[in-house]
Amino acid sequence: MNHLIDILDLSVEEISELIAVANDIMANPEKYQEKCRYKKLATLFFEPSTRTRLSFEAAMMELGGNVLGFSDAASSSSSKGESVSDTVSVVSGYADIIAMRHPKEGAPLVAAMKSEVPIINAGDGGHNHPTQTLADLLTIYREKGDLNNLTIGFCGDLKFGRTVHSLIAAMSRYKNIKFVLISPNELKLPSYVKNDHIKEKNIPYVQTESLDDVIGDLDILYMTRVQKERFFNEEDYLRLKDSYILTPEKLKNAKSDLSILHPLPRVNEISTLVDEDPRACYFRQTKNGKYMRMALILKLLEVM
Ligand code: CP
Repeated sequence: MNHLIDILDLSVEEISELIAVANDIMANPEKYQEKCRYKKLATLFFEPSTRTRLSFEAAMMELGGNVLGFSDAASSSSSKGESVSDTVSVVSGYADIIAMRHPKEGAPLVAAMKSEVPIINAGDGGHNHPTQTLADLLTIYREKGDLNNLTIGFCGDLKFGRTVHSLIAAMSRYKNIKFVLISPNELKLPSYVKNDHIKEKNIPYVQTESLDDVIGDLDILYMTRVQKERFFNEEDYLRLKDSYILTPEKLKNAKSDLSILHPLPRVNEISTLVDEDPRACYFRQTKNGKYMRMALILKLLEVM
């Protein structure tokens, strides 16, 4: 059974294949519009989402398939105490593939142990978000033409930012990568991510609290939201939430071919004035996510 729980479940070669398929879907959507006819995708979202859930559903519809699911734990029987294992045992009898988001780290892995159909981790707590990483990789590839030879700055909440953890794991496998980790002291990258990927592969990195000091060095700037829902007390959130705000003024010192990514949703960390800058890629990134999810569904259902 094929599942996607962690981005490292996919080899570099498989990611290249998914990028090629996603690009082909964009160029020739009619070739794919019946590929998943009579197949069903279940979206089990125990946490809020706009992009991930709707792009999964749009992806399956554009492949000719159908979707079912829930967008709120309160409307599912988990609110009556049903376990993730039982929920998945049941839903895998109704659907051919399942995308699951859950606030608890490891819940999609537990689901994969029980499921009779492929499970896709659509974000588990502050841990991983592999399909966001697929969207990020396609965006970087389309903007830069390569996934090698890049200096990538991650800015904001690197502690709870599951998209950051998954993208660092993925980019650590490419050549001549440098990481610049920009965060307040309280929101630094967890040691396990640094040890398992950056230090393990001897990747050069810089850690700083100042975006201004490093912005001119970056090929990619990956902005992130300080996530209110992961804080234990509101006082800390209020103190840290506006640590970084990207403005046209700050971008004056950036490279002319910088690519600005953000998994979204954005709150305050990128001024809307930046949206008109050609270096702002975040809305293109959301569209790329749908095409990579289409490619992933085809792969996991083995209908490529
Ligand atoms: N990037 C992302 O996961 O967005 P949603 O929470 O809206 O799905």
